[in-house]
Amino acid sequence: MARLDGRVALITGAADGIGLASAQLFVEEGSRVVMADIDDDRGGAAARDLGRQAAYVHADVTREADIKAALDLAVRDFGGLDCLMSNAGGAGVFAPIQDIPVEAFDRTVAQILRAAFIGIKYAAPLMKARGRGSIINMASVAGFRTGDSDHSYAVAKAGVIHLTRMAAMELGESNVRVNCISPGFVVTGAFQKAAGMTREAYALRLPQLTEHFTSFQPVPRACLPGDIARAALWLAGDESGFVNGANLIVDGGRSNGKAWTECLSDMGRIGTVLLG
Ligand SMILES: NC(=O)c1ccc[n+]([C@@H]2O[C@H](COP(=O)([O-])OP(=O)(O)OC[C@H]3O[C@@H](n4cnc5c(N)ncnc54)[C@H](O)[C@@H]3O)[C@@H](O)[C@H]2O)c1
Repeated sequence: MARLDGRVALITGAADGIGLASAQLFVEEGSRVVMADIDDDRGGAAARDLGRQAAYVHADVTREADIKAALDLAVRDFGGLDCLMSNAGGAGVFAPIQDIPVEAFDRTVAQILRAAFIGIKYAAPLMKARGRGSIINMASVAGFRTGDSDHSYAVAKAGVIHLTRMAAMELGESNVRVNCISPGFVVTGAFQKAAGMTREAYALRLPQLTEHFTSFQPVPRACLPGDIARAALWLAGDESGFVNGANLIVDGGRSNGKAWTECLSDMGRIGTVLLG
């Protein structure tokens, strides 16, 4: 028996990257998946590739009505909702605070934090009525440490982590678990969009970027979308049945601080200063 047999999931931002890898893995593990995104071409094609287990819906997560309609579609076409993965997101404006337009800040918060709130708001009653559920919010190491992103993105992700904890304490009482995942750097199209590159130009530089990310954390390889999808699969399924309110950090150890070899070299430099 597959790990998500008979389950129904809604995944936002499912046309690409982590969301797409999660949709593919969830279907492989027996779930039916509603794939929500604003990239209708890629999302539609991906859902068609996955067959009858998947359906694509256009849903802009900055719009309350779109999120609600996507959840309603899961109930209407697939018979209920067991898992919501609020995953859609992207970088904000990378600039000093004085140069960030307020509207840009609002947009990032709406796409990341407000969308997670709306998802929980409408998924909770559906899951409570079923007597179980798993809500997975996509956070980031940028949500609890500085230096990994722009200001707006970081504070929106910090909000997602605390929203997760708050909601977990309420909904846990109804056997609805709420957790989040904090990836470090993952090789996805997010960097293509942030850099304003074409897909083609980005594809050419992908091997170099992947190699570059190898040195970002103690584990000596880059993080791939499948690494995060497998964490989401675990949170969606019964194996994590007693995990609630957690921030599952999937970053190869990056957010713990310096890797051992960096530490050794720092200590060596201190030794040189002291002893010559
Ligand atoms: N890639 C990383 O290094 C990384 C690290 C930490 C956290 N994350 C988080 O993981 C999540 C997925 O990112 P990714 O790296 O897979 O990015 P991605 O760009 O590959 O995929 C994001 C998807 O979200 C969709 N999307 C964007 N805005 C949307 C909206 N308003 N409504 C609906 N869909 C929308 C895009 O069309 C795209 O399909 C994001 O929340 C991101 O912040 C990514």
